[in-house]
Amino acid sequence: MKSRILGNNGLEVSELGLGCMGLTFAYGPAVTGKDGIELIRSAYESGITFFDTAEAYSQGGNETLLGKAVAPFRDKVIIATKFGFLNGDALTGVDSRPENIRKVAENSLKYLNTDYIDLFYQHRVDPKIPMEDVAGTIQDLMKEGKIKHWGLSEAGVESIRKAHAIQPVAALQSEYSMFFREPEKEILPLLEELGIGFVPFSPLGRGFLTGAITEDTKFTEGDFRNSLPKFSEENRKANLALVELLKTIAAEKNATAAQIALAWLLAQKSFIAPIPGTTKIHRLQENIGATKVYLTTEDLAKIEIALSKIEIVGARYPQHLQDKVGK
Ligand SMILES: NC(=O)c1ccc[n+]([C@@H]2O[C@H](COP(=O)([O-])OP(=O)(O)OC[C@H]3O[C@@H](n4cnc5c(N)ncnc54)[C@H](OP(=O)(O)O)[C@@H]3O)[C@@H](O)[C@H]2O)c1
Repeated sequence: MKSRILGNNGLEVSELGLGCMGLTFAYGPAVTGKDGIELIRSAYESGITFFDTAEAYSQGGNETLLGKAVAPFRDKVIIATKFGFLNGDALTGVDSRPENIRKVAENSLKYLNTDYIDLFYQHRVDPKIPMEDVAGTIQDLMKEGKIKHWGLSEAGVESIRKAHAIQPVAALQSEYSMFFREPEKEILPLLEELGIGFVPFSPLGRGFLTGAITEDTKFTEGDFRNSLPKFSEENRKANLALVELLKTIAAEKNATAAQIALAWLLAQKSFIAPIPGTTKIHRLQENIGATKVYLTTEDLAKIEIALSKIEIVGARYPQHLQDKVGK
């Protein structure tokens, strides 16, 4: 697999990463430790060197799984994790007080069973804590060798500029896919200007863009998608037009809808490295196949026209979570 560089300080990652969240959190029951380790190792054997986790994914449980899985080849991979939710709970408040950043870093090192974090993201901007204090704490952790690079997630333009001016930011991780194109307006041009990498999360639209979800799909109890307006039955039905488009392009390119969704992201900018997640090895292999799908300028122009005719219905987050993004 080819690699890409995130930011101006040489952070090299495989062009596709693996989002580990769903292995233990957000989309139904956790996989067994054995299956999770097998999946992560299969990703590595297939060329993936970029693994995404967070304190907030099962409060250390996800990091522990990842740490165990990559232990035999720890120095060959890039581990990205995140701090900044109150008590490590993504559904409550935010907490980027310096003492909390430090505590989360120490816990992550312990859970991941490593002495350094390659990429440490602020999961959400904390409006109560000046960016100077956040970046200053990161700088201290860097001096101590505990963190190699840092990033932000779902941050707004002002926060990105401020953070980057104090300590160069390697990557922004925010939602981006054919299902949610908001970052194209202000964020992507800003990252290009500043030389910051972009890591699209939910690049498969939380599974929607793969064609595996229809209006009849019933998510299990506790599946995060039950709370997302975009995933109401009615909105899913309306948004299936996008999936139909993906299936049409996929048939033309001898690929799958998921592969087209990922290939499209990779084709947008050279500093983009998406992190699709899956709990299934055959889907992992399918997603990796996206790196072999080449969309020509002509294909991309055709897709652009088709996309402009499709209206995506429904908010991506309920209001209390929407209030935390773009700060
Ligand atoms: N920074 C943030 O705030 C934030 C927020 C959300 C996510 N993330 C990160 O981004 C990563 C990826 O995002 P995500 O997991 O939300 O969404 P995603 O990668 O867009 O989609 C994951 C979903 O798609 C399904 N799927 C994956 N490949 C498939 C395929 N080829 N065919 C059919 N279904 C497929 C998976 O189900 P199966 O498991 O059944 O295959 C899973 O339900 C996460 O793991 C996490 O690390 C970060």
